[in-house]
Amino acid sequence: MGRVQGKVAIVTGGAMGIGAATARLLAEEGASVVVADVAEAEGQALVADLATPGLFLRHDVSSEADWDELARTVTARFGRIDILVNNAAIQIPASIADVTYADYRRIQAVNADGAFLGCRMAVREMARSGGGAIVNVASVASHSGEAGGVAYSASKGAVRSLTKSVAVFCQNAENGIRCNSVHPGVTDTPMLRAMRADLGLEPQSPHAGDPRQVAYAVLYLASDEALLVNGAELLVDSARTVTPPPPKR
Ligand SMILES: NC(=O)c1ccc[n+]([C@@H]2O[C@H](COP(=O)([O-])OP(=O)(O)OC[C@H]3O[C@@H](n4cnc5c(N)ncnc54)[C@H](O)[C@@H]3O)[C@@H](O)[C@H]2O)c1
Repeated sequence: MGRVQGKVAIVTGGAMGIGAATARLLAEEGASVVVADVAEAEGQALVADLATPGLFLRHDVSSEADWDELARTVTARFGRIDILVNNAAIQIPASIADVTYADYRRIQAVNADGAFLGCRMAVREMARSGGGAIVNVASVASHSGEAGGVAYSASKGAVRSLTKSVAVFCQNAENGIRCNSVHPGVTDTPMLRAMRADLGLEPQSPHAGDPRQVAYAVLYLASDEALLVNGAELLVDSARTVTPPPPKR
């Protein structure tokens, strides 16, 4: 018996990185997994390799129409939605001094608006079927300033407080829905490797965490093991946020 046996889960940005690790783990633990992503080839390949029969949907989290279509398709195919992992995000490094407004808006549209549209869809659908679990993948960037990632950090702060507002609403409504956030630290994914390559660094950081370790945190919050956990934030960063490394000399 898996930890999410028989549940229907959607993972946005599920084709690569933390999303892919999460999709794999949820399927290994018995869920039917819908991988929603703009990366079609990677998403299709992943779904073909999941432990349970799943579904790939080409889906842009910043599109309201795509969310409507996803809700229709998933409920028609699986009957309900039990778990939504709002994981998709983008990063365009820039400071407050040099960020363009267009890049700032694009990051908010994917990272913050995408999570909002996902939560709204999930609350409406899950309330109809008696409850469910939403897990928003934020970042340690929601807890600390990021000199070189102002738009990304602001978007993750939005996801952090969105999570709590959704949780309180659902608690008051007694609709059986929980909403929590996971805050990874530096994790070895295509996003991190691309950023490091842009900075002229080796793509693989020796300090980066394994995406599967983040996936385990998502699994816990998505499962019925966390039925009393609502509005919580789970740091998955080896204590780097609570105890930052000493300044370099
Ligand atoms: N890797 C890290 O160090 C790290 C640290 C903290 C938080 N995070 C967060 O973890 C989550 C996953 O990050 P990752 O490192 O695996 O990223 P990644 O870039 O490796 O993977 C992100 C996935 O999202 C998809 N995606 C991008 N834009 C999309 C859109 N508009 N609609 C749907 N899908 C879209 C991509 O195609 C890709 O499959 C993100 O929310 C990220 O902010 C990552």
